[in-house]
Amino acid sequence: MAGSCTIYTNMKFTAVEKLKERWLENSSRVYLEQWNEKFAKLVKKDEYVLDAGAGVAPYRHLFSFANYETADFEKLDKIHQPSTYICDLKSIPVEDERFHYIVFNQTMEHLPDPIAVLKEFRRILKPEGKIICTCPLFYEEHEQPYDFYRYTQFAHRYLFEEAAMEIESIEWMEGYFGTVGYQMECVYKYLPVKPAKFPIGILGWIVAPILIFVRYTSFILAGLFYRLDTRIRYTDSGMPKNYVVIAKKSSTSDAKKYNV
Ligand SMILES: C[S@@+](CC[C@H](N)C(=O)[O-])C[C@H]1O[C@@H](n2cnc3c(N)ncnc32)[C@H](O)[C@@H]1O
Repeated sequence: MAGSCTIYTNMKFTAVEKLKERWLENSSRVYLEQWNEKFAKLVKKDEYVLDAGAGVAPYRHLFSFANYETADFEKLDKIHQPSTYICDLKSIPVEDERFHYIVFNQTMEHLPDPIAVLKEFRRILKPEGKIICTCPLFYEEHEQPYDFYRYTQFAHRYLFEEAAMEIESIEWMEGYFGTVGYQMECVYKYLPVKPAKFPIGILGWIVAPILIFVRYTSFILAGLFYRLDTRIRYTDSGMPKNYVVIAKKSSTSDAKKYNV
């Protein structure tokens, strides 16, 4: 009897968690898919594409018509798609100029030496080869201990130019509503609501109901802002959660100029 009660409670718990997850489905996933889909349209059949730092390779389906390969160091305790190359991105075991395109999503912040990796990308890209790089400006620490930086648009420009890559565009990936949604989600996830968590006596008991109200309101608002962001990509003020960079391998003469 106790067993079936536990199963029922667990099922209820899982269903509630699933509902919460669905409500907080973040708009970045939608935009990541859209930007990568647009990039995939540049690729011709049988051209070579590397997904660098592929993880579970969530955009593999967009490149199924091409020669799609993946590289990842697979050091984290998480599920990976088996990588074509298990390696550090600083040293990818392929010949020079193998790839027409590189897909580089949500990975640059995890690299201690991003310039070395961008130079390696330059080596393995064909002349005029292109890269899509999406990378957070505003996001909590994740995949620890391999989480090193957050990048402004100026940092992107600096790093790509240091590696003799020509920037074609730097844009906000989502709109500001996506960033607000994420901030609200963090409030919901992390705001302490138990008076015992802040030892300030009676004040704790006064503050606690306010924090509970803010926390649960933030849950509702997070889902609303994520949905709003998928409909209106507002970029006139605020800050992006991620930037998306499209860059091209510049000519050999440029590389000499940059000492690459
Ligand atoms: C946040 S995940 C992104 C995965 C995937 N690109 C995506 O968009 O979902 C970052 C990935 O980069 C890989 N990674 C981090 N540092 C790396 C390094 N120095 N060399 C190779 N892979 C690395 C991690 O194993 C992880 O799979």
